[in-house]
Amino acid sequence: MLKTPAPLRTVALLGGSGFLGQALASRLQAAGFRTRILTRSLEHARPLWLLPDARCETVDVHDRAALAAALRGCEGLVNLIGILNEKGDSGRGFRRAHVDTTVSALAAAEVAGVSRFVQVSALNADPEGPSHYLRSKGEAEQRVLETRSMRTAIVRPSVIFGAGDGLFGRFLPLVKFLPFLPLAGAGARMQPVFVGDVAEAILHILCDDQLPSGSVFELGGPEVWTLGRIVEFTAHMSGHFCPVFPLPAWAGRLQAELCEHLPGKPFSRDNWRSLTRDSVVQGTDGLAALGITATPLDAVVPALLKPTRRARDYSAERRGAHR
Ligand SMILES: NC(=O)c1ccc[n+]([C@@H]2O[C@H](COP(=O)([O-])OP(=O)(O)OC[C@H]3O[C@@H](n4cnc5c(N)ncnc54)[C@H](OP(=O)(O)O)[C@@H]3O)[C@@H](O)[C@H]2O)c1
Repeated sequence: MLKTPAPLRTVALLGGSGFLGQALASRLQAAGFRTRILTRSLEHARPLWLLPDARCETVDVHDRAALAAALRGCEGLVNLIGILNEKGDSGRGFRRAHVDTTVSALAAAEVAGVSRFVQVSALNADPEGPSHYLRSKGEAEQRVLETRSMRTAIVRPSVIFGAGDGLFGRFLPLVKFLPFLPLAGAGARMQPVFVGDVAEAILHILCDDQLPSGSVFELGGPEVWTLGRIVEFTAHMSGHFCPVFPLPAWAGRLQAELCEHLPGKPFSRDNWRSLTRDSVVQGTDGLAALGITATPLDAVVPALLKPTRRARDYSAERRGAHR
């Protein structure tokens, strides 16, 4: 049975040390909430150490008793845990990171008396989806929707942009050095959404007492971009020239397989399978439903990608020397 929501004062974040978690912690802080950042390592949460009303604690999310103890006194919990790649390609890593952690978080939250739970999922999350990532995100969503003991909600963002993102930040080093880029999934369509808007959406959801439990919000920005256009925009805005050559499916798969052997696994077969589905809002526009005006990419990204003075000075010298 759904509990009457307690007044919201303290919100715990699982995976709060990451890109979206940091933006959310700052937004919650500005809105007057105390946050508890539950992390595998305090070092991961270093950028949040100085937030005055944030308390960082280490916890093993798979240890339900320890997690319940860490959640005591929190009215809200936001689960932001997510990975883009696993070791190997069996799906076990994705299940453990997405499904097992969600099951554990729900169980611990119930024991600790948490009344609101927000799950950060992804567009196209689907237990029958084409990739381990999307299937495990979909299965985790199902576990959230089965929960009756607290008010739950799910947000499903498209790709998220902002300072420190994994989208423009991922391609910038490549377009700086490559004369052109053969790209798997270049035609995949996505609706980049600003990190600040996603944080704002989660804040609205946490604060809305009238929201039916199990509400799902698909979050996308104001424009649809292909991955290829995003990469060319990254090159252009950072002062480089790097045309994109879309790879056919067979070559895209091969590129993904090769990239799995590079340090940091920048791209994988599973990423490639996820790209076979356009990451665009299909149903109701979640940001609009929450009364949030989506921030266009043009308003944020050019400043993030602006060439540094040093790079611009060197290129001027090269031009002067006819090189
Ligand atoms: N960024 C995007 O474009 C995007 C798009 C759609 C959906 N999402 C979803 O949004 C959420 C946040 O994304 P993000 O970009 O902020 O990701 P991120 O920067 O990689 O942060 C994810 C956090 O999850 C925790 N984590 C990772 N693996 C874990 C594991 N095996 N066990 C326990 N905790 C683990 C880490 O926290 P600690 O190291 O502190 O434990 C990490 O800080 C994720 O669920 C992601 O799938 C992101």
